Amino acid sequence: MIGAARYSTLWLCGRLFATPGYPPLSRSELAAALSPYDALPRSSQRVIAFRTAALGSLMRRADAFLPSEGAILDAGCGHGQMARWLAREPGRQVLGVDSSESRIRAARGAEMPPNLRFERASMHDAIASDGPCWDGFVFVDALLYIDVEAQRDVLIATREAARPGALLLIKDSIAEPRWKLRLTRMEERIKLGRAYYGNAPGGPLTYRPREEWVATLHDAGWRVTDDCRTPRFLPYPGWIAVCHAV
Ligand SMILES: C[S@@+](CC[C@H](N)C(=O)[O-])C[C@H]1O[C@@H](n2cnc3c(N)ncnc32)[C@H](O)[C@@H]1O
Repeated sequence: MIGAARYSTLWLCGRLFATPGYPPLSRSELAAALSPYDALPRSSQRVIAFRTAALGSLMRRADAFLPSEGAILDAGCGHGQMARWLAREPGRQVLGVDSSESRIRAARGAEMPPNLRFERASMHDAIASDGPCWDGFVFVDALLYIDVEAQRDVLIATREAARPGALLLIKDSIAEPRWKLRLTRMEERIKLGRAYYGNAPGGPLTYRPREEWVATLHDAGWRVTDDCRTPRFLPYPGWIAVCHAV
């Protein structure tokens, strides 16, 4: 159980990152989302707790948009909170992949529901397939670590591997406004310099304007049907897009 003081801090964090219509996690939801990580060192638990709180609203959005049945890929899943949240729906088969070994080890946590798997893999390798086999894709703050050509290849691969009716959810930092871009790029450079993401390869940090993303998605066969910015007062140039296969 999360104590009142700790919950207040986490709730505030969740509130700050929440977008309209998708509230932060309640105390019991947070406690359930954090329980698989109980055996990790305190420092890791703290990082995961704040990230989970910040992701809560987006986790609800992904849950609401993604099909309630079928195969869902969380690419660059980190510690796996989003994948775990999505796997609460038993009709989904969820795979979380990340190139960081330590993050995948942490993501597996104490218990694994039967419809959830985590694997260490690059997002490109995880998507590559002989045909349509996925019903949903999630990329949360993951595509910025690869360059523009690799982004295009990954998005084309998702479209080729998408079953009819499949959906793609992207949350990433974009290139505007400039002051937010400068701050987030600086933060990421520091994190990569300190191996914050474990042994994952440090990427080129690719930030693109919204219009360029929409065009790249369109060229890859995805139509952006719903998109929004993360809250204006945050110092992050976050963008959330829900896309349907064209
Ligand atoms: C900012 S973290 C986001 C993690 C998670 N999606 C979340 O929202 O908490 C970015 C993650 O992408 C992973 N990553 C970076 N490049 C990757 C790639 N090419 N394939 C798979 N994972 C990658 C990193 O290891 C890291 O865990």
